[in-house]
Amino acid sequence: MSPSPVAAFVAALPKVELHLHLVGSASLDTVLALARRHPGGGVPTDRDELRRFYGFTDFPHFLTVYHRVNRLVTTGADVVTLLDGLAAELALRSVRYAEVQVTPVRNHMAGIGYADLAAALADGRALARERHGVELGWVFDADAALGPAGAEETVDFAVRHRPEGTVGIGLGGPEAGVRRADFAPAFRRAVAAGLHSLPHAGETVGPDEVWAAVTELGAERVGHGIGAAGDPRLLEHLAEHGIALEVCPVSNLRTGAVRDVAEHPLPALVAAGVPVTLATDDPGMFHTDLDAEYLLCHEAFGMGVAELAAIARTGARAAYCPTQLRDSLLAEIDRVEAAHAR
Ligand code: ADE
Ligand code: ZN
Repeated sequence: MSPSPVAAFVAALPKVELHLHLVGSASLDTVLALARRHPGGGVPTDRDELRRFYGFTDFPHFLTVYHRVNRLVTTGADVVTLLDGLAAELALRSVRYAEVQVTPVRNHMAGIGYADLAAALADGRALARERHGVELGWVFDADAALGPAGAEETVDFAVRHRPEGTVGIGLGGPEAGVRRADFAPAFRRAVAAGLHSLPHAGETVGPDEVWAAVTELGAERVGHGIGAAGDPRLLEHLAEHGIALEVCPVSNLRTGAVRDVAEHPLPALVAAGVPVTLATDDPGMFHTDLDAEYLLCHEAFGMGVAELAAIARTGARAAYCPTQLRDSLLAEIDRVEAAHAR
């Protein structure tokens, strides 16, 4: 069966992906290989069992599973393997540029030295460009579970090693019971060193923490940010200041952050004029890819070619990629849209 006209358009559309985590991007095959190398690691070594292992009861359960998989990634060579697989998958979905969230303190806890991590990122980035034609940037995210001290260590890594392609500082992990504001000193130091502020906020909690990300952490984009939907003044602020949200609909459904696709606030965010980009978050764990996220917007929210092209443009504009790459992406989006417009 040939793909629907919108599916063909999405497949051809050149895209950027601004929110995905290195460990969460690992394919089932890659995780199985790692799990078989570390059979005591608490991650299934059988494919069907691994699929079931990725059935998340709620967001805290997802984070527990994520940390188990993270602990299997123990060498710089493992990191390069992950980046090779990720870039191959991105190329398959016409993704030309991606910003990858790397959690150096968690990688270090799994046994990778900081210098080895920096060298692996450099090797993986070169390989992504040369073998797959995909440009990668890095967002070094602190895990909120490790507190402000973990965020300071994350900034230390980013500032001391600053692998080529370094874009910004992030903040992931749990939100409930954690205040974004506590991370302000680390973010101030990162921003003073020239890094962009790109924290998660409003993934599982409401608008207050998105406000905190913006006012206390100086967020220039927000990971998820869907909790903003309850606050019209916040939506106005995001729209007015061009603060884009990295929205990951399939992730929200799989972690239970949103119960039903019909309740997902993405259409309301777009209607409020907030810049919305689409991303996969942890595609290997959520069984998704960027084309699937675009198609979900078509199927669940009724978005057509023009609306999907607008989201791709928002992503290109919100990306911290080289200007030339952005310009060529925008020109190509126009061409692909014109070829598929009816
Ligand atoms: N780490 C990996 N995926 C994450 C997510 N969706 N939210 C917060 N931290 C994460
Ligand atoms: Zn995330």
